[in-house]
Amino acid sequence: MSAKRGPIPRQGILDIAPYVPGKSALPGAHPVIKLSSNESPFGPSPRAVEAYLAAASSLSRYPDGSARSLREAIAKLYGLDPGHIVCGAGSDEVLNLIASAYLGSGDEAIYSEHGFLVYKIAILARGATPVVAPEKDLTADVDAILAKVSPKTRVVFIANPNNPTGTYLPFDEMKRLRAGLRDDILLVIDSAYAEYVRANDYEAGIELVATTHNTVMTRTFSKIYGLAYLRLGWAYCPAEVADALNRIRGPFNVSGPAIAAGVAALEDQAWIRRAADHNEVWRGRMAEALTRLGLRVTPSAANFLLLHFPTGNGRSADEADAFLHERRIILRRVAEYGFPDALRMTIGTEDDNRAVLEALTAFMSGKGTARK
Ligand SMILES: Cc1ncc(COP(=O)(O)O)c(C=O)c1O
Repeated sequence: MSAKRGPIPRQGILDIAPYVPGKSALPGAHPVIKLSSNESPFGPSPRAVEAYLAAASSLSRYPDGSARSLREAIAKLYGLDPGHIVCGAGSDEVLNLIASAYLGSGDEAIYSEHGFLVYKIAILARGATPVVAPEKDLTADVDAILAKVSPKTRVVFIANPNNPTGTYLPFDEMKRLRAGLRDDILLVIDSAYAEYVRANDYEAGIELVATTHNTVMTRTFSKIYGLAYLRLGWAYCPAEVADALNRIRGPFNVSGPAIAAGVAALEDQAWIRRAADHNEVWRGRMAEALTRLGLRVTPSAANFLLLHFPTGNGRSADEADAFLHERRIILRRVAEYGFPDALRMTIGTEDDNRAVLEALTAFMSGKGTARK
């Protein structure tokens, strides 16, 4: 019998390392404290849940393929033109649409050393070449990015703030980046965590998109809006970019329940402010308390903290991870981001944060041997 030869994916596809999401479960039936995916500890606004449930009566219908009501609600909140907004099934889809429209074989796209890994996958999936710019102090470095530009560069992806570091670039630096890039290079500002940033020198990307013809900002409903399960994101783009993305996206790429929940969620800004206020208080408290324990905590503008563990003597990130699992606490391993000695912790409810603090206090003080 001759061996069957099945279809073979395009060159390079099977070399792509799949994205590994944050762990969400542990063996056993007891509940876990899941702080591994930067989800909102408050969940969505009750108004969004109500709208989602009401959408159940229309499941046989196709949604509005242009997601007009959602684009109008976003436009109203931020004072934008709805014609410049494109929605997607999570910002992941929007980032991939951008890569499909602007990258192909022979092109290069730049992202920074510890940048969000979806960029690398999106670039490789189009047969383009990822180019990695070194960071300074775990922060994107504008000069290093500009130094990586070549005649083949088509796109620069930058998360601001970045995941998993939580560090951000001020508006002045983002303007300097844009000004230093050629006109034909698309700058993609991924502002998934924008709602959490309280720094005065921060700008989410709206200004740069509005004042240039080659910048896109992406946003998500998965983080502060608490709708990760629904998959909803959007981009604010120049008209030409919106036109390109609209030509290639699925005709009904955002579901009706997601559109309905998104509109209702945007109307409840008090819910969002409460989540941001809680985050601000607890991010500060946790950073301080964890630093006192002897961990190095990267200063974060987002809803998570990158915790660097000492190497050796029983206090490593691996050992901390195992220790926390025994206490039903899940943080995020970040070795694939170049941080084998760190864990990323999402800011949770007060109870969840206190549970992490208690566990890591025991771990760091030497009562940390795993109960095997
Ligand atoms: C920087 C960044 N961009 C985009 C996303 C993707 O979010 P979405 O759920 O909208 O696809 C994430 C999620 O972790 C993220 O951290």
